[in-house]
Amino acid sequence: MLRLLVLVSGGGTNLQAIIDAIESKKIEDTSIVRVISNKKDAFALERAAKAGIDTAVVCRKDHETKEAFEEALYESVLEADPDLIVLAGFLVVLPEKLVDRFENRIINIHPSLIPSFCGKGFYGLKVHEEALKRGVKITGATVHFVDRGCDSGPIILQKAVEVKEDDTPQVLQKRVMEQAEWKIMPEAIDLIAKGRISVKDGHVRITGG
Ligand code: GRF
Repeated sequence: MLRLLVLVSGGGTNLQAIIDAIESKKIEDTSIVRVISNKKDAFALERAAKAGIDTAVVCRKDHETKEAFEEALYESVLEADPDLIVLAGFLVVLPEKLVDRFENRIINIHPSLIPSFCGKGFYGLKVHEEALKRGVKITGATVHFVDRGCDSGPIILQKAVEVKEDDTPQVLQKRVMEQAEWKIMPEAIDLIAKGRISVKDGHVRITGG
């Protein structure tokens, strides 16, 4: 059984996609052991509670220093004893200590086809605004392992999504979520649960199936 820990900051639609995929057995042999949010009012916490999942809140403003906050986050993660950590819209840069301890065991979803529209400052609607500004015809989403860099870890899965002529950032964001994010995040977790993902020389290899 793969022990999953999900870190969130917001609405939690990706969390919901994971909960639903476990329920419908699209993700096998996996259970979410805890959801941690850095925002007390994140709707993702309600989704977790409704599904009967243990939740924890670790806020920066409850701690005097960044170091104390990072230590509290680290402790809450270790306490959950996860096999895999999923960043599902988690708007905090992870402490390096955490990244190093869970090498190739932390995954993130990014709403573009990396290496386009990624890196520092590219989060939320900004990613889609920049894609529209550049006039790309295809965008998408990427699930990747988290390393010490920003959106720079080994790529696990990507899915392309069409950009339409009259798209606004909001409309495009919704299409990318529905057609790509909510599909490839559960798919990646299932592949990891089945032991089908390995990393060699910074590249992901998918075996079996
Ligand atoms: C998604 O667009 C995801 O790609 C990004 O943050 C957003 C999270 O949305 N990393 P939600 O909280 O899962 O609804």
